[in-house]
Amino acid sequence: MYDYLIVGAGLFGCVFAHEATKKGKKCLVIDKRDHVGGNVYCENVDGINVHKYGAHIFHTNDKAIWDYVNQFAAFNNYVNSPVSISKGKLYNLPFNMNTFYQLWGTKTPEEAKTIIESQIKEFGSKNPENLEEQALSLIGKDVYETLIKEYTEKQWGKKATELPAFIIKRLPVRYTFNNNYFNDAYQGIPIGGYNKIIDGLLKGIDIKTNVDFFKDKDELSSMAKKIVFTGKIDEFYNYKYGNLEYRSLRFENTKLNTENLQGNAVVNYNDSKVPYTRIIEHKHFEFGKQKHTVITKEFSEQWTPEKEAYYPINNDENQKKYQAYKELSLQEPHVIFGGRLAEYKYYDMHQIIASALQKTKKEFN
Ligand code: FDA
Repeated sequence: MYDYLIVGAGLFGCVFAHEATKKGKKCLVIDKRDHVGGNVYCENVDGINVHKYGAHIFHTNDKAIWDYVNQFAAFNNYVNSPVSISKGKLYNLPFNMNTFYQLWGTKTPEEAKTIIESQIKEFGSKNPENLEEQALSLIGKDVYETLIKEYTEKQWGKKATELPAFIIKRLPVRYTFNNNYFNDAYQGIPIGGYNKIIDGLLKGIDIKTNVDFFKDKDELSSMAKKIVFTGKIDEFYNYKYGNLEYRSLRFENTKLNTENLQGNAVVNYNDSKVPYTRIIEHKHFEFGKQKHTVITKEFSEQWTPEKEAYYPINNDENQKKYQAYKELSLQEPHVIFGGRLAEYKYYDMHQIIASALQKTKKEFN
């Protein structure tokens, strides 16, 4: 008899299993996929770690979380500095003095600020009623039209005027020549890929892949005293209150006999006529020197229940449904719900690790 059956071998499930094992508990980790690691899983393609479920860059401000992941892998000093192509021109991201120079030729913060402030003024003082108005009120029309509008419309499959304003809460603007996408104190890619961290977390723990909890729920549940469930909460309750909706992604991978295709790990494509949102060139995450390269074109797609669920759609209807499922989950004495699918929430990796550590602390203290 196991102490815990852990459904889902993503970061949440793996951190929980690791901490429970340290406390002397016996765990079985299952996953319906044919591998462990959940969405941080890397597939080795001829020596290049391909981020199979989308580009993953680790970043955190929390020294304790940074030390935690560094137990399992050393990190390189990769800094995420994406670029964006719009109407044939290339721009640095996030919006900073380099971007403003590329847009307007401005060389000082004051020159750039003057243009942005005058464009924000043009929008006036009305309350933004949709994403377009929100962006215009925060950054003005040039940055919006060149680098936000069409990219966001591809991401969500809707016109910016039909998207709610709250999707953009703030737009980080830097009046320095700094292309580092994140502001966090710690950032990097685990040397050898994320699988190293997952393997370290799961060392000595029983694992079964290709096992879907719902195909054998009763038997699997009878194998352990408690369940840690990191799958979809609506599925756990047999969609009693309906489906929780997501935005999905499709990835098209290609191996090329080229040493260096785009010179950067992440290149965004703003224009609506380009069907994908970005191209990832994976070797650059690890400063690869191979003679070949592997690229992934990322397409944003309408989600249907048979597709992978990536980004929760946080509108009132879905939040209401989630709250109803959450109410049910609070009455389960033997099931712990955690992770992005069970909590219907977008989490970055450092946040999911913090959340799993918090849940284990609650369970074992
Ligand atoms: P995850 O989805 O990883 O794991 C859940 C597991 O449960 C899956 O393996 C699934 O197969 C399994 N499962 C589900 N139902 C099951 C069932 N019925 N039976 C058995 N198994 C079942 N974060 C960051 O910090 N930096 C970044 O750059 C990125 N980039 C990024 C890109 C994209 C495109 C996305 C969507 C997300 C990111 N993230 C990120 C976020 C990161 O992916 C996220 O924080 C973690 O993967 C979440 O881990 P979980 O364990 O919650 O879920």
